[in-house]
Amino acid sequence: MQRTYIKDLKNRIGQEVVIKGWVDVRRDHGKIIFIDFRDSTGRIQSVALPNNKDAHETASKLRSEWVIAATGIINKRPEKMVSKDEENGSIELELKKIEILNEANTPPFDVRSDGRDINEDLRLKYRYLDLRRPRMQKNIRQRDKIISFFRDYMHKNGFVEIETPILMKGTPEGSREYIVPSRLENGKFYVLPQSPQQFKQLSMVAGFEKYFQIARCFRDEDTRGDRQPEFTQLDLEMSFITQEDIISYIEGMFIDLIKTLYPNKKITKTPFPRITYAESMEKYGNDKPDMRVNKNDPNELALCWVVDFPMFEKDDEGGVQAVHHPFTAPKAGDEHLLDTDPLKALANAYDIVLNGYEVGGGSIRIHNRKMQNKVFEILGLDNKTIMGRFGHMLEAFEYGAPPHGGCAPGIDRIVMLLENEANIREVIPFAKTGEGKDLMMGAPSEVAEKQLKELGIELRKRK
Ligand code: AMO
Repeated sequence: MQRTYIKDLKNRIGQEVVIKGWVDVRRDHGKIIFIDFRDSTGRIQSVALPNNKDAHETASKLRSEWVIAATGIINKRPEKMVSKDEENGSIELELKKIEILNEANTPPFDVRSDGRDINEDLRLKYRYLDLRRPRMQKNIRQRDKIISFFRDYMHKNGFVEIETPILMKGTPEGSREYIVPSRLENGKFYVLPQSPQQFKQLSMVAGFEKYFQIARCFRDEDTRGDRQPEFTQLDLEMSFITQEDIISYIEGMFIDLIKTLYPNKKITKTPFPRITYAESMEKYGNDKPDMRVNKNDPNELALCWVVDFPMFEKDDEGGVQAVHHPFTAPKAGDEHLLDTDPLKALANAYDIVLNGYEVGGGSIRIHNRKMQNKVFEILGLDNKTIMGRFGHMLEAFEYGAPPHGGCAPGIDRIVMLLENEANIREVIPFAKTGEGKDLMMGAPSEVAEKQLKELGIELRKRK
């Protein structure tokens, strides 16, 4: 007989069905054994009666997390046994036959609780079990819904999803990069993208006009509660647009997302308030102001834009670095400051902030070789370095590069905030620890001597 998903059992009252899944809990009442079964679609209470010897005997052996196929009849529960809070609270499965598909060890922790009091390292080590808990199942399923929403929204608005390389050239955008040694060219390295920034700009030069990608980004930086070494952006770019166009597009998308998937949440203010970087620093002491009226209300979403970031800032070594990234254009009217007083120039850049977290950033880009070259010079790069690292960008700007700009909302942070989670790891299926470790697989790890040899790598242990 064909398997029925647990969510569909309500429509099968009086019929014989086969379900497949896991033992959630077993309650042995001696003569009568109750077992809750679980599959990816829901839970059902079943009952093994002593008059069915076969099923009763197997039922008495079952333990939590064992994998089974169970055959039985779907009955209405007696009135006094109905549980209103459960999806299948008005029915139960009267067991006829149970086939054990796989036994299971006792899990190292309870997979039914919300898991918040369990040591997180242990949860990450047994992530495949941790993900069984209803809270994590919900988070990951909501993440899928949010990503699907974005993808549909972008397609409906004429964007094309373009996959860009994961193995690329090192061109620091700000954070430290992960590097990947080349086997065919010993001594040379790829790096993993901090974001698809350059490829999306080059897609504009290529004439696509509206690009997007659900893009994995890699940054070798110290992780925090709202940061992971690899994370996902809704990366987008458009040609022939202004800052105003991008802000209003993203704003419309966020409002629609919340209305569609989180109708119980309320946005504090629309249009989203805008605050300049200078005002935000003065009033809030940071560049991600929390504009909630009631910070205890789990349904309040205060979105705002921070605009007018400076182009440059001093770095720790006294040099100059880009506040957003070096491809960001100066604000109209501030171009002359690049020649006279670059640290005073404002950028055509904007961040979107949600409840005090930066959930997206973007800018209008430079599309002119001379201006881009000037910015690299201000950043202290000499001509040889500029050409070595960014020659392809400068050259591309000379083959009909349209004016363009974009933005990249950070999906993990968005899911975290919409799901009222305090940590980004709660919405990333196979997350890494604060030290960037995958405790389940044990990454990073050593590699075989043979592999190193092929790559021309000799290890010198750090003293
Ligand atoms: P930016 O560096 O501001 O811009 O990143 C955009 C958004 O990505 C999210 N984010 C992160 N999320 C989790 N872990 C991290 N380590 C992490 N780092 C960033 C944030 C942030 O707002 N290429 C530009 C975008 C552009 O200019 O279009 C960029 O990557 O939510």
